[in-house]
Amino acid sequence: RGEITLGDFADRLGVPSSEIIKKLFLKGQMLTINSPISFDLAEELAVEYDALVEEEEEIELEFGEKFALEVEDREEDLVERPPVITIMGHVDHGKTSLLDSIRASNVVSGEDGGITQKIGAYQIIKNGKKITFVDTPGHEAFTDMRARGAQVTDIAILVVAADDGVMPQTVEALSHAKAAGVPIIVAVNKIDKPEANPMKVKQELMEHGLISVEWGGDTEFVEVSAKKKLHLDDLLDTILITAEILELKANPKKRAKGVVLESKLDPKVGPVADVLIQEGTLKIGDVIVAGETYGKVRALLNDKGERIDVVGLSQPAEIIGFNQVPQAGDTIYVIQNEQHAKRIVEEVAKERKLAETSRKTITLESLSEQFE
Ligand code: GTP
Ligand code: MG
Repeated sequence: RGEITLGDFADRLGVPSSEIIKKLFLKGQMLTINSPISFDLAEELAVEYDALVEEEEEIELEFGEKFALEVEDREEDLVERPPVITIMGHVDHGKTSLLDSIRASNVVSGEDGGITQKIGAYQIIKNGKKITFVDTPGHEAFTDMRARGAQVTDIAILVVAADDGVMPQTVEALSHAKAAGVPIIVAVNKIDKPEANPMKVKQELMEHGLISVEWGGDTEFVEVSAKKKLHLDDLLDTILITAEILELKANPKKRAKGVVLESKLDPKVGPVADVLIQEGTLKIGDVIVAGETYGKVRALLNDKGERIDVVGLSQPAEIIGFNQVPQAGDTIYVIQNEQHAKRIVEEVAKERKLAETSRKTITLESLSEQFE
């Protein structure tokens, strides 16, 4: 947001990208057609080309804004909503086990080799307050899912096994949470193990900028054992206190908006989308769009697989009714009627195709040829 690529910028100035790449190259900056250009750099270049850059022009509209799907909320319509808490961390550090213990469920036992391969979302009630949890995979192959998990969350829980310490995906998860700008709570897990060393975890994380409250920092560390169910209440209390400070609110009255966390094609019921509703209330019969797909909500299932009629704020649900499998990460919107929905997805498909074809890559070889 607020940034465009060098290629787009060149198009707007009406000069060949190669000319700009060369200009910057001679100034010692190695950029390609896909490199983002900061506003400052754009302005600097524009002066050279005698053009004026308007900051507004640089902001590409999200499709929700473009089709006027984003409606302003009136203050009086806003109500408190449950916090969304994403559990992140290195593979096998006990994320799913922790959620299983909190929910008294047993998701881990149903997983292939005990490895989480998708995002799962669940809701619990603690002290009369709902909390939504999003479980992410720790395996290195699933960076996209961790990024997606961090993008939808209000608070990130970084799970670190006390017998293993900070590992590569711990650091990666931390960087996603930092990029999302959300508060981070550290759950130091597996403290039941004899070789557990929670102190080492604290020291290692300090090197990554997470300093525990006891050591004068502002990061809450909670030592837990998912297996022995130790200090889970402390963790939940810390979550609720952190959430309260955020004063999370949304409007339940408007047409629903949410995000697709997962999607698949079910041979029996067709396209299925796991979504998290962020605004409004989703109902059976609602017309929906997500990226290039649309449909009408035929059935809704909650996190326990039970049929429900409505989905509220911060609630995860499975939607059946899309015409095709929507893309994970896409925003889902409720639309007035089917004709309008069709028009929107056609437009989105057209734009995405255009973006695809204009995305040319420049290799080092082709660059050096140009500069010969
Ligand atoms: P991925 O989703 O694949 O990244 O793994 P995960 O972080 O969800 O770990 P998972 O919950 O699948 O647990 C991995 C292993 O650690 C399992 O064998 C668990 O039984 C074990 N484990 C989890 N928590 C604890 C704990 O508190 N103590 C002990 N001793 N073992 C634990
Ligand atoms: Mg897991």
